[in-house]
Amino acid sequence: MDARNMKVKAAEAALAYVEDGMRLGIGTGSTAEEFVRLLAEKVHGGLRIVGVPTSERTARLCLELGVPMNSLDELPELDLTIDGADEVDTNLTLVKGGGGALLREKIVAAASNRMIVIADESKLVDMIGGFPLPIEVNPFGRKATRIAIEKAASGLGLAGDLTLRTSGEDVFTTDGGHYIFDASFGRIPDAEALAGELNSIPGVVEHGLFIHMASFAIIAGEAGARTLKA
Ligand code: A5P
Repeated sequence: MDARNMKVKAAEAALAYVEDGMRLGIGTGSTAEEFVRLLAEKVHGGLRIVGVPTSERTARLCLELGVPMNSLDELPELDLTIDGADEVDTNLTLVKGGGGALLREKIVAAASNRMIVIADESKLVDMIGGFPLPIEVNPFGRKATRIAIEKAASGLGLAGDLTLRTSGEDVFTTDGGHYIFDASFGRIPDAEALAGELNSIPGVVEHGLFIHMASFAIIAGEAGARTLKA
């Protein structure tokens, strides 16, 4: 089974948790998009849901496929969010933001009663940090913010490059108008400590560490989809 098929398997398994009438947070990325395609088929078959997309990219796909949407301001409390991840460890600590949507993804997940992560097995790791950690920053003072991040990480024994994300010739800009540093710290033994440090830096808008947010993960591999609980 190739990675795409594994993503479809995980998305199919997640669909079983979607009930008629639900207010659904809808994630961003290639795995979440497989979920949107399957969800659209169910909607056309009569399932009634309203989705709150976590990015402009997901909103465009929902619009194209006819998945009903509303804004988080209209639906501030959601039943369930289904989203992908860049890394998942066995405690369900996630790294997210490879697609640049981490801020809206975290806001939407936090507004949901439950969050289900869907992923192919390549995302499952013993310890997070192999995937560079996306850190969303305000463009104002980004150099000062970068220095503050490096100092905070160093205080935790973490060192590594921070790369300002680009898109072609331009600096990548998030849906919220911010920049992203991708931080290659390597293995992160204490994600909660790092999250606390990053949260205390004024120029940091949000970071891609999702801790105690996922209710469970659905991980798909050669043998099919399995549920991972903390
Ligand atoms: C988007 O910002 C990310 O958090 C995605 O959820 C994550 O990058 C997973 O994407 P894929 O499903 O494409 O791997």
